Amino acid sequence: MYFELTEEQQAVQQAARDFAQNVLKPGVIDRDREMRYPKEEVRQMAEMGFMGMMVSPEYNGGGMDTLSYVLAMEEISKVDASCSVIMSVNNSLVCWGLEQFGTEAQKRKYLTKLATGEWIGAFCLSEPEAGSDATSQRTTAVDMGDHYLLNGTKNWITNGGTSRVHLVMAQTDADKGHHGINCLIVETDWDGVVVGAKEDKLGIRASDTHTIMYNDVKVPKENRIGEDGFGFKFAMTVLNGGRIGIAAQALGIAGGAYELALAYSKERSAFGKPISQHQAIAFKLADMATEIEAAKLLVYRAAWMKDQHMDFATASAMAKLYASEVAMKHTVEAIQVHGGYGYVKEYHVERLMRDAKITQIYEGTSEVQRIVISRAVLQGQLYQPVFGEREAMAV
Ligand code: CAA
Repeated sequence: MYFELTEEQQAVQQAARDFAQNVLKPGVIDRDREMRYPKEEVRQMAEMGFMGMMVSPEYNGGGMDTLSYVLAMEEISKVDASCSVIMSVNNSLVCWGLEQFGTEAQKRKYLTKLATGEWIGAFCLSEPEAGSDATSQRTTAVDMGDHYLLNGTKNWITNGGTSRVHLVMAQTDADKGHHGINCLIVETDWDGVVVGAKEDKLGIRASDTHTIMYNDVKVPKENRIGEDGFGFKFAMTVLNGGRIGIAAQALGIAGGAYELALAYSKERSAFGKPISQHQAIAFKLADMATEIEAAKLLVYRAAWMKDQHMDFATASAMAKLYASEVAMKHTVEAIQVHGGYGYVKEYHVERLMRDAKITQIYEGTSEVQRIVISRAVLQGQLYQPVFGEREAMAV
């Protein structure tokens, strides 16, 4: 095992850190308060190559590995998780999905623009009645011969109001259950695509989350991804990768809160000494540092497994589950370290706590991650047993 980052990975990490500090930090509190989409900041992220980091240069991407993407996500999320979710959806759900499963024509037409950030993409799976239970798709794509007729409603769509391209999961043949679902590439300026109101959210408030309606949208057959009925498998496979991005986001949020708590605890004095010198606070910092480090190992390992073309579905579920729980727990603790100051917006930690919450929900709730992990556990995929069945029962 080798725990050093390469020079290239360190350079990406440093560039993302500088960008987050110099460009994102100054306006982050106002954007959150005003629910203001970070248009100029996203343009600059695109200029830096952060919108299509893992896409091969052949399609205008950065040709980087998943760990580089994770490092950039982590640094940006320390400061602004609204920006990092915009980046994450475009990189791991839209670009990665298109590159893995799209046709050459789809890649030329869409991926080349999405990878540069000229166009932004959205991933449209969730519905009013299909969140965790994602197979229960009500959106329909009726086969009309040379095209599909798309009708339905999608909920909580990140990049909903700003995207030029949607990847939409829809049911074509209900008799086939999830094997009757297709994924269609939809351009948002086509007739019948209606963007609903922007959601007023607890956290990641500057990101752009909308309900989308599709009313008799004509989607050419060549815009289907993969074979007929491949849509659900596509969505699940892409989400395996997406969960690494959200795990990295959670890791960054936790890291940001830890950095702020550590710095504050050294500055703030109570009972005649800095509060970091009180064991009650020092132990909180020790727990934060340890658990963030453990989350980091899970997230980086999942990224590495993906790049080695190993089966990374369970590893990404574990990384997302653990990193998001750590983010939630330690953003709350960071507020506690700050006392009353932590409860006001100026000190950033209350925003980080609000942002942390969504990492336990989107791209599969913590409960969904436990479904994925427990199935692998029960199938005996995870560890080589050292005890025989009878010995295990005796234990
Ligand atoms: N990887 C690959 N394939 C998978 C998979 C995975 N992780 N999980 C399931 N599948 C496949 C199965 O192999 C099966 O395929 P076959 O029938 O061909 O064998 C098929 O999908 C159906 O699987 P299940 O029978 O296991 O389905 P299920 O109904 O029991 O549900 C689930 C499985 C894990 C709960 C799944 O529905 C799920 O992941 N739900 C959560 C959905 C989700 O993450 N939504 C996020 C929305 S996107 C978002 O949040 C983006 C954003 O804006 C930030």
